[in-house]
Amino acid sequence: MVVTTIELNKIYHEDCLDFMGKLEKEQPPLLVDVIVTSPPYNINKEYSYYRDNKEGKEYLHWIYQIAKKSFSILKENGSFFLNIAGTPSDQFLPYDVATQFKDAGYKLQNTIHWIKSISFEEEDVGRSNGTIRNNHNYDNNSNGFAVGHFKPIVSQRFLTDCHEYIFHFTKSAEVKLDKLAIGVPYQDKTNIGRWKSAKQDRRDRGDTWFIPYPTINESRPHPAVFPEKLPYLCIKLHGVRDDLLVYDPFMGIGTTALACLELKVNYLGTEIDEEYIKIATENVLERKNIIEKRSEDKKGRKIVDWVSSTTSAEDPEILGER
Ligand SMILES: C[S@@+](CC[C@H](N)C(=O)[O-])C[C@H]1O[C@@H](n2cnc3c(N)ncnc32)[C@H](O)[C@@H]1O
Repeated sequence: MVVTTIELNKIYHEDCLDFMGKLEKEQPPLLVDVIVTSPPYNINKEYSYYRDNKEGKEYLHWIYQIAKKSFSILKENGSFFLNIAGTPSDQFLPYDVATQFKDAGYKLQNTIHWIKSISFEEEDVGRSNGTIRNNHNYDNNSNGFAVGHFKPIVSQRFLTDCHEYIFHFTKSAEVKLDKLAIGVPYQDKTNIGRWKSAKQDRRDRGDTWFIPYPTINESRPHPAVFPEKLPYLCIKLHGVRDDLLVYDPFMGIGTTALACLELKVNYLGTEIDEEYIKIATENVLERKNIIEKRSEDKKGRKIVDWVSSTTSAEDPEILGER
């Protein structure tokens, strides 16, 4: 990879549109494999520097410019994973944003639902694995359970929002993915061998991803971070290679950079808030130390454990919950 003025594995204190312009002007242009990001949602979130309250049309035009610019710095077989959500009173927001990407030339290859909290009735869990009890108790969850963080909204009209979108945009809708890299074990093991495609105990994760927020007890350093597992799964799904380059235009406090460190892939980031960059830099340094220690640990103990990071329901101390 020929890199002239742009140093890799760095978060730039710069406007993302300006920075993408620079990537484009490199000789040859510096193209990225994966963009994974969460932009400001224009919902008056209290960032320390950025003002999250553009006029509606102005916001969508800004998103269109970002989509258009990103199109010119994304490789032909690249992936753009865009995390966005609506609000109870503006349910069209994610679709309006997705439309800007369509207008900029992108195809929508996958729509992933990031599930933050979900409840199950006991008999429905049984129904899916064959241990059914014919007990039609759909209205109360007394024998069921709920997982993930649930922050109830006070409203007679709106359901509490427990999910966000991850739109997977590509240039052709034909980008081959490494689905089994983020696969899950078959629940019914008889599928292995019965289905030609099932050669191992691992199936496609599907497009609903349960990703709880990790619980923290300190005050939040940033009001709207996503959990590290989100960019981690996106990058793995696209396919990890040694020379992979990931870009997060809205890097915040460095979550995407941490996922890249875990996956040992190169990253670039931009963030307009100097305070967030300071925190991101500390987070990156701390994680590098952890990874170094881990690699010295002969047992190969894994410190970041996605599977066991499930939070208890109704826990108010949640990092960056939207
Ligand atoms: C939703 S947050 C992203 C948080 C990030 N995913 C994390 O986990 O830390 C959006 C971020 O975009 C930054 N931002 C807003 N406008 C920007 C711009 N034009 N260029 C770069 N960053 C910008 C804000 O300061 C904010 O930190």
